[in-house]
Amino acid sequence: MMLRRPLEKFVDPLPMIETMRPQKKTDKVTYYEMRMVEVLQHLHRDLPPTPVWGFEGRVPGPTIDVGKDERVGVKWMNHLPDRHLLPVDQSIHEVAQHPEVRTVTHLHGGATPWESDGYPEAWFTSGYTQTGPFFKRKIYQYPNHQRATTLWYHDHAMGITRLNNYAGLAGMYIIRDEHEKSLNLPEGDYEIPLIVQDRSFHEDGSLYYPRQPDSPSEDLPDPSIQPFFCGDTILVNGKVWPYLRVEPRKYRFRLLNASNTRDYEFSLDSGQVFYQIGTDGGLLPRPVEMEKITLFPAERADVIIDFSEFQGEDVVMKNGAGCGGDVDPATDGNIMKLKVGYDLAQRDDSDIPDVLSKVPYPAKTNVQKKRNLLLVGSEDVYDRPLLLLNNEKWDDPITETPRLGNTEMWTFINTTDFPHPMHVHLVEFQILARRPFDLDQLNKTGKLRFTGPTEAPAKNERGLKDTVVVPSGYAVRIIAKFAPYAGYYVWHCHILEHEDYDMMRPFKVWT
Ligand code: C2O
Ligand code: CU
Ligand code: CU
Repeated sequence: MMLRRPLEKFVDPLPMIETMRPQKKTDKVTYYEMRMVEVLQHLHRDLPPTPVWGFEGRVPGPTIDVGKDERVGVKWMNHLPDRHLLPVDQSIHEVAQHPEVRTVTHLHGGATPWESDGYPEAWFTSGYTQTGPFFKRKIYQYPNHQRATTLWYHDHAMGITRLNNYAGLAGMYIIRDEHEKSLNLPEGDYEIPLIVQDRSFHEDGSLYYPRQPDSPSEDLPDPSIQPFFCGDTILVNGKVWPYLRVEPRKYRFRLLNASNTRDYEFSLDSGQVFYQIGTDGGLLPRPVEMEKITLFPAERADVIIDFSEFQGEDVVMKNGAGCGGDVDPATDGNIMKLKVGYDLAQRDDSDIPDVLSKVPYPAKTNVQKKRNLLLVGSEDVYDRPLLLLNNEKWDDPITETPRLGNTEMWTFINTTDFPHPMHVHLVEFQILARRPFDLDQLNKTGKLRFTGPTEAPAKNERGLKDTVVVPSGYAVRIIAKFAPYAGYYVWHCHILEHEDYDMMRPFKVWT
């Protein structure tokens, strides 16, 4: 039975995610071992423990926290049972011919050599007994030659990414550098990751994920993939609607939307603003004052909130974005509560500097290639929605082949009825512009006619990004330099139900 009565809000404290300890650390390499295991975890005071899949037995997994240029090795190890926790659709991606439980971890936002990037077909089963055709190595290598930022690691296995992530296989990965340290941002106990996810539950506490769409036709496969899925309950760091006691001072929060489909519009009911200092690819040029921040799946926002004027007050972090309907002020309209105390443990000497960083944007003088990439809706043999990129499926031959070191402009053209957060592996890109076009005309005649001027990216998008929202009826242009590694990578929609079927394409960087 699905749990219908809403769980009580703000009764559990926010879990502090542990930082992963390396197995060993020399001056050459820092080495971690990360085991994926099934465990029971308490997600809410009134909910029986939930079977989940967690890295090192925790959901979200422990945070990997490293320095820029620190050479890191991670052995990702699968110790999961061979039956999935959730209903697996056997009709897509020849899933029926593969072992049911297979995993591969991707470092999202990382500039990673391709053999370590978590290519969807580089999956492996428990004990590496079986491996996918692209499997190359057990220990992944992360050179971390990139600026300080908030990345995250998550499962990327072909055809079941939505299920592996929903089961819990995700965590944060932080890169730090000297420049960021010099800024005197809030740190230590005052720098807190907030990983936001939505889930639904059964009465017995187990995760609910639908087997089939709401009104399935008779001949639909069982189970059958959802075109999208939103849980009715919001979790932060693995607890349902938690609360956090804070001191009346500045805090730095690293917000990550690690949900399958749901986007959030964050705000504070006290009327406070977020000082956004960073985005997917690190610090912004300057802090941006935001009353509301929208994050689609996989996007990050690095923010400072100043509670110094709110002693003794309760501040609720709200969500203004519905999921296929309006938000419910009693349930998914809420994220967490911040209870501001009266006392400071120590003086707040941290800063919100006026100038944060010089963003290393790709040079626009030397664009070797422009690509128009269509986001398209179609149907499969069961009349189910089948979403495609450029009308190609995952298995079709590779069409995007940037040369190593070249700069390209990619324009995502969304011909469907809903927004898609598009993500490109290997690179951090710059958003150049969004522009509306006549959707009807494009879908009828194939002609792209713009209906308005180009719109500059929002102020808080003017850093480097790896995921960009492409609204319905919009063309969104990005620019990226395809470096520093050659090999096989992927680009895809980060709504995981879309990525699995079939809004993901390989690309190859060649030398
Ligand atoms: Cu966050 Cu291809 O993934
Ligand atoms: Cu990625
Ligand atoms: Cu999508």
